[in-house]
Amino acid sequence: MSELLKVVRERRSANKFMEGIEVPKKELDSIFEDLTSAPSAFNLQHANYYVVKDPEVKEAVYEAAFKQYKVRSASAVIIVAGDKSAYQNAESIYEGSKLLGIIDEKEFHSMVDIIYELYEGWGDSFQHDEAIRNASLSAMLFMLLAKERGWDTCPMIYFDQEKIKEILNISDREIPAIMITIGKSDPDSVKLRGSRKATNEFVKYF
Ligand SMILES: Cc1cc2nc3c(=O)[nH]c(=O)nc-3n(C[C@H](O)[C@H](O)[C@H](O)COP(=O)(O)O)c2cc1C
Repeated sequence: MSELLKVVRERRSANKFMEGIEVPKKELDSIFEDLTSAPSAFNLQHANYYVVKDPEVKEAVYEAAFKQYKVRSASAVIIVAGDKSAYQNAESIYEGSKLLGIIDEKEFHSMVDIIYELYEGWGDSFQHDEAIRNASLSAMLFMLLAKERGWDTCPMIYFDQEKIKEILNISDREIPAIMITIGKSDPDSVKLRGSRKATNEFVKYF
């Protein structure tokens, strides 16, 4: 079995983390380094990560996540936020591609124009969807990269978005799309994987 398949099959949403386990910053940094390969619409890199390791801040996040115990026992809690205004970074991102010779001046202007037209033309709801969409894809890759390094995770949506924004000083341009708890899963808490639909129930070929 390939390494990737092993990681995909072995990743589970942790029910309970073992207490008192520290996730080294070096380990998280190395995951974030690989995470830079994640895809994003127009390469706009909408996802921002807020990593909580400090016990006091973690306690406040635990309260904002309606006291879900796994937040308290996790080695770290991470908020993946999607930036609704990521399109406004188009110039600086594409400037980099121009300097690297990947695109020329004409392509630079055309890409920047297309991006602004799309995001401003399609407006708030598109910017909102894009923030969630791109942050979610990034979060999935984060969880796989963590698992590959022996760390368990749980994606979570049951939290008070406004409280989380306040605690972590997240701007109104960003949407806390998903919370990821990370740590070492308590082996006694692992249950069988919940039943899954058969592929013919969720795949349609045309
Ligand atoms: C978007 C999303 C939100 C979730 N929110 C929570 C949550 O708030 N609390 C929780 O304990 N698990 C949460 N989960 C984990 C799911 O319950 C879990 O992925 C599902 O039961 C399948 O189990 P598995 O990931 O172990 O295969 C969430 C998962 C996803 C993808």
